[in-house]
This record gives sequence, C-alpha cells and structure tokens, in this order.
Amino acid sequence: MIRIFEVGPRDGLQNESKTLPVEQRLDLIELLLEAGLDDIEVGAFVRPDRIPQMANTDDLFRSDRFHEMKSNFPDVRFWALVPNEKGLARAEKCAATHIAVFGGATESFVKKNIRMTIDESLRVFSGVVTAAIQKGFSVRGYISVCWVCPYEGPVSPEAVTRVAQKMLDMGIPQISLGDTIGHAHPEATEKLLTALFRIAPPERYAVHFHDTFGMAIANIDRSIKLGITTIDSSIGGLGGCPYASGATGNVATEDVYTLFEGYSLVTQVLEPHSLLSAAKYAQSALGKTLPSKRLAAIQKIRPG
Ligand code: COA
Ligand code: ZN
Repeated sequence: MIRIFEVGPRDGLQNESKTLPVEQRLDLIELLLEAGLDDIEVGAFVRPDRIPQMANTDDLFRSDRFHEMKSNFPDVRFWALVPNEKGLARAEKCAATHIAVFGGATESFVKKNIRMTIDESLRVFSGVVTAAIQKGFSVRGYISVCWVCPYEGPVSPEAVTRVAQKMLDMGIPQISLGDTIGHAHPEATEKLLTALFRIAPPERYAVHFHDTFGMAIANIDRSIKLGITTIDSSIGGLGGCPYASGATGNVATEDVYTLFEGYSLVTQVLEPHSLLSAAKYAQSALGKTLPSKRLAAIQKIRPG
C-alpha cells in the first residue's frame, strides 16, 4: 500500500511568513482528517523563539478541540517534532504519542538548524529515542538535505547512509529522507535509494521532496517504482525553507494524490474534494496563492 504522510500543519506552516493562531491550525487539521489523511504532523516541541509558527504546539495538543479530534479519529497518528529531552518532556506533558527526531546529512545544515554537530545530534537523539520508546511513544526520524545542502552543495549517498544507519540502530522504524531545498533529480534519487536499500528495505524509508525545480512528482514516481511506499507531502504545497532563498514548499498532497490515482496499487482512502477544501482553507488563512497544481486547475474552472 502506498500512502501519504501529511506534513503541512508542521513543515508547511513553519516555513510560512504568516503565523497562524492555534484555532486556524486546528481548522486545517480538521479538514485534513475529513479528507482521510491518517498520518498528520501537527506541531513541533522546539524552541518557540526559533520557530514562532510552532510556538503554541503545547496549547494545540491540550485544546478541547484536539482531544475531540483524537477521539473521533482514534486510528489517526498525530506527529510532532522533538529535538531533545526538553522537547520530549513537553510532548509527554501534552499526551502526544507520536514524535519525530530530525537530523541532517551535512554538518553545516545540522549546525544551523539545531546547533549541534551530526555526532552530537545522534547522541542526543539516541537518548531521546530510547526514552521515548520506553515511554510508549512511536518514533520517526528525519534526515534533512539528503540530496543537496544549501551550504555544502551535492551530498553523497554515503553521508546519508551513515546517519540513516545510526537512526536504524536506535530502533527508529521509518526514516524520512528530506530533499529540503527541492533540488533532487530522479537519477540522484535512484542512486541514493539504491545505497540506502543495501542497509534496510524500502519500507524503512519515506521520501520528502520539496518542489523548487518542479521535479518532486518525477522523484516520487521513481521512488515508488523502486519500492518506497510512504510519501511526505504538504497540503496546497505549503512551505519553503528558511535556509535556502527561492526554495519552495513540499510537493502538494493533492498533486501526489493525482499521481496515485493512476496507479493500481492500493492507497489510503482519500477524498479529493476534501483535500482541495483543505488546500483552499490554507490559501485563504495565509492570504496567498499556494503552488498546488490541482488547486490552480480547479480554480481556473471554478474560481473561489
Ligand atoms: N523546547 C523549548 N525550549 C527549549 C528546548 C525545547 N525543545 N530545547 C532547549 N530549549 C531552551 C532551553 O531551556 C534554554 O532556555 P533558557 O535559555 O531559558 O534556559 C535554551 O532553549 C537553550 O537551550 P540549549 O539546550 O542550549 O538549546 P539550543 O539553544 O542549542 O537549541 C534546539 C537547540 C534544537 C532546541 C533549537 O535550536 C531549536 O529549537 N531549533 C529549531 C529547529 C527546527 O525546528 N527546525 C525546523 C525543523 S527541520
Ligand atoms: Zn520539508
């Protein structure tokens, strides 16, 4: 089964210049639930002064509305980023159940993002992941800049494999491979995945493409043909990258759905009209046109 892992309410919103209040973040999550998405990343327990868009993640998790959503959709996995012990403590206090640690494949990017070296980050994550698993959390791992780094240029598959191996050794079931600035090409994707599949099978990885050069769908198509079954995407194509000017958001969830429609492989049951309603909501809440192709097409036919 191929599936979408929705990252819009976190990766998308954290990279938008307008910060949405908790109520609007909850509105968006509610629309994503109605569309059938069942892995949704909803926040980040990171330093609020570093990422103000995610500052009120604790309030979101503690809100009555969110509790209601959790009981109405008991099979949905709501995820949040956790960078360190302090983040894990916040997640625990908020009764979060699904957390993700996030590293990267280059020293410069990791330093800039979480102020650690790669090895320091892996030591911190190892402690966090062990404690989290003991406490009953489900854990995901992210590796940013797996293809190209905004500071160091092209990244070797060996650099990614080294970090992936460490995360796999921690017992992380799935690692999401980030094309953080949207520069991946399908040929590079094939090389990277081939290297990674030597250390673990395809189901241990997800792919996470941004769409700066319009190559995200081509990369996803190649990844699926190689055996990848989990695709990260962001409703409407929300987001960008604060560390790479000109980098655009994640590939749009509804555009990945368009690719899925033509496959005979079984996917999650997703409702395309509801996906578009969620994308439209994000667009009006942020007051800007989002890059989604499917949304643009539908609005040409039926503006509004
Ligand atoms: N949540 C809230 N506050 C935190 C925190 C967390 N998870 N981790 C650390 N802090 C606070 C500490 O309590 C301390 O506060 P004080 O000065 O009031 O005592 C301060 O931050 C410094 O702590 P330190 O351990 O030195 O952390 P740091 O400053 O090196 O920050 C990160 C490390 C990872 C927490 C921070 O860089 C961060 O949140 N980055 C954002 C990364 C991100 O979300 N990127 C986008 C996703 S890819
Ligand atoms: Zn991303």
